[in-house]
Amino acid sequence: NDLYAVVGNPISHSKSPRIHSLFARQTGEAMEYTAIQAPLDDFAGTVAEFFRAGGCGLNVTVPFKEQAWALADRRAVRAEKAGAANTLYRDQAGDLVADNTDGQGLVTDLTVNHGIALAGCKLLVLGAGGAVRGVLGPLLAAGPASLTLANRTVSRAQALVELFADEAGETGLSACGFDTPDQPFDLIINGTSASLQGDLPPLSQAVIDRHTQVYDMMYAATTTPFNQWALDQGAAQAVDGLGMLVEQAAESFRIWRGVSPQTAPVMAALRS
Ligand code: ATR
Repeated sequence: NDLYAVVGNPISHSKSPRIHSLFARQTGEAMEYTAIQAPLDDFAGTVAEFFRAGGCGLNVTVPFKEQAWALADRRAVRAEKAGAANTLYRDQAGDLVADNTDGQGLVTDLTVNHGIALAGCKLLVLGAGGAVRGVLGPLLAAGPASLTLANRTVSRAQALVELFADEAGETGLSACGFDTPDQPFDLIINGTSASLQGDLPPLSQAVIDRHTQVYDMMYAATTTPFNQWALDQGAAQAVDGLGMLVEQAAESFRIWRGVSPQTAPVMAALRS
């Protein structure tokens, strides 16, 4: 069997082995997928050893995504500005290639799984850390009318707006703090890690009306604090990040195996 793995630290909580095993069973691909905890000071050595032993591909998670990006000989175009990679493999020349499927996973979950239109929408994105940087390219490529990037530390949002200015196209791309313009948005994506501390970004309730859809890139067994807040303000729909997790995995699977797995049954299995 061809060998794949997810590398992180810690890694025991990762759902990737379960997701990829379900994909493999469903598609009949002869592969095995495990989890590897790399030492914090030797990610590069762990990757080298994995491929030396004949491994075919890796997913990379916290805290190694930036190192994976830097380690690669070559990067997919969409991973270049993300500054982080979640997918590694060797090409036929033996070069280590880095890709980032997080943004595509988010866009697919929004548009295909939840019927949320990105093209032409007024989009508010919360956060300006690595998670948001990783998805901004694909979000802009989907053609929102405007993308307002709001972050606690405004300078970080401004830096991302400058970095992605040449990918904005017709989209009005701007940065602000959580004191956003007092007007409803069509879609609000929470890409902050605030909920890890049980915090909520202090937003005005004016950003939500009964048409507003919200998406929390985090997921949990119960409704996330951010999604609950949005529903309490009367939002139309609140979606968590489980679908993004499964869709980014499907995109990695497609890169490695050239086969598209069905994601709906895997999401159902993870929810139950
Ligand atoms: P990640 O990889 O999750 O993006 P990160 O790069 O550390 O991690 O970024 C965390 C993001 O969540 C940042 O946008 C951070 O805001 P700051 O740039 O102001 O630090 C945001 N964040 C973290 N804790 C938060 C909180 N309690 N309230 C609001 N925003 C928070």
